[in-house]
Amino acid sequence: MKINKKIEDAINKQINAELYSAYLYLGMSARCTEMNLKGMANWLYVQAQEEMTHAMKFYRFVLERSGHAVMPAIEGVKSDWKAPVEMFAAAYEHEQKVTAMINNIMDIAISERDHASASMLNWFVDEQVEEEANSSEIAEKLKLIGESKEGLFMLDKELSTRVFVDSTQPAGGAQA
Ligand SMILES: [Fe+2]
Ligand SMILES: [Fe+2]
Repeated sequence: MKINKKIEDAINKQINAELYSAYLYLGMSARCTEMNLKGMANWLYVQAQEEMTHAMKFYRFVLERSGHAVMPAIEGVKSDWKAPVEMFAAAYEHEQKVTAMINNIMDIAISERDHASASMLNWFVDEQVEEEANSSEIAEKLKLIGESKEGLFMLDKELSTRVFVDSTQPAGGAQA
């Protein structure tokens, strides 16, 4: 069944929002690299890669449902971050906004009785729980660390271990 116009519009907006997220985290990653916080830079770079896969999951869905994917301009992002605590607090705030956007598309899918979209969106509902938990945990740790250079160094080391995994693709790497 061809995708309904209301959902198509909402998903197109979400493709843009996911690419904006990637852009936001890439900017933060660059700033962390400049600050010599390589672990945080790594975490944010991986996060940017994840956001790209979210955009592509929505993109594939629109086309699979014989919809029309449009590519409007992506808004520029803040780049004058002063400290990691500011970045991760903003990341958590941003993820809460994204959750609200996903919930809004889900509301449309339910009211339009579009079960296929609702099923696809369920993945994002679950994903957002993790996204909020991860960004909030790091933001809270940074608040606890405060001015401690040792604490910052240890957290940076911890965040250096994050590796990119495309969780939008089934295991084995085949195209979804
Ligand atoms: Fe996302
Ligand atoms: Fe996200």
